[in-house]
Amino acid sequence: MNQGDKLKLGINIDHVATLRQQRRGKEPDPVLAALLAETAGADSIVCHLREDRRHIQEQDLSNLRRNIKTKLNLEMAASPRIIKIACQEKPDWVTLVPEKRSELTTEGGLAVKEQVNRLKDVVSEFKKFKIPVSLFIDADTSQIKAAVKTGAEIVELHTGRYADAVTEKEKSFELKKIIAGSRIAKNLGLKVAAGHGLDYRNVLPITRIPEIEELNIGYSIIGRALFVGLEEAVREMIRLIR
Ligand code: PXP
Repeated sequence: MNQGDKLKLGINIDHVATLRQQRRGKEPDPVLAALLAETAGADSIVCHLREDRRHIQEQDLSNLRRNIKTKLNLEMAASPRIIKIACQEKPDWVTLVPEKRSELTTEGGLAVKEQVNRLKDVVSEFKKFKIPVSLFIDADTSQIKAAVKTGAEIVELHTGRYADAVTEKEKSFELKKIIAGSRIAKNLGLKVAAGHGLDYRNVLPITRIPEIEELNIGYSIIGRALFVGLEEAVREMIRLIR
């Protein structure tokens, strides 16, 4: 982040759809959640169209595309069927994530160095539609260098291990990796975002990393929204991170 620029906040609204899908009903509506998050100051809306459609549905994606006024960041696996949907809906950018049906949430970063050529093709496909690509990766130098080779413009560094660290020593070790990874990515010309597992208690050290331009947060904010309302939950996070 350049000095003076504000740290951006993307709100992931998947869990609003998770609750709705519990009854396969109409409420709560992720689009309404996105609009309230925007009113409260969110810079972008994030949703993950999973292959198993456990929360966000294709109709939600179109509704979000048509209704939100900020930016739409679509998280997705690099699978042909989802790529086709993404190119039709044209989010402002896509974030490629690894996806496993058995996982509760995205567990690790994308294995970029193991599939540089394949990801290069995916990035070029998106370039035809003028859709920038972000890769969700661990803060690992070899993965960051591989990300550059794919032609992706953005990396989102996985903060899950930092968030899950139990001891202070472990936390500080994971934080140092994110600090170093952010610096390397920025020096290699990538835009840097971060996310996963960030909450009101652990976010501050991440906000002090100058290379990080944007944080993507879902679970903690949607959970807090049950008690204080979504707008207030978003505002509280904005107050903390800026
Ligand atoms: N960024 C990415 C790439 C993710 O997959 C997720 C989870 O969907 C998040 C950010 C947000 O994580 P959380 O819900 O733990 O805040």
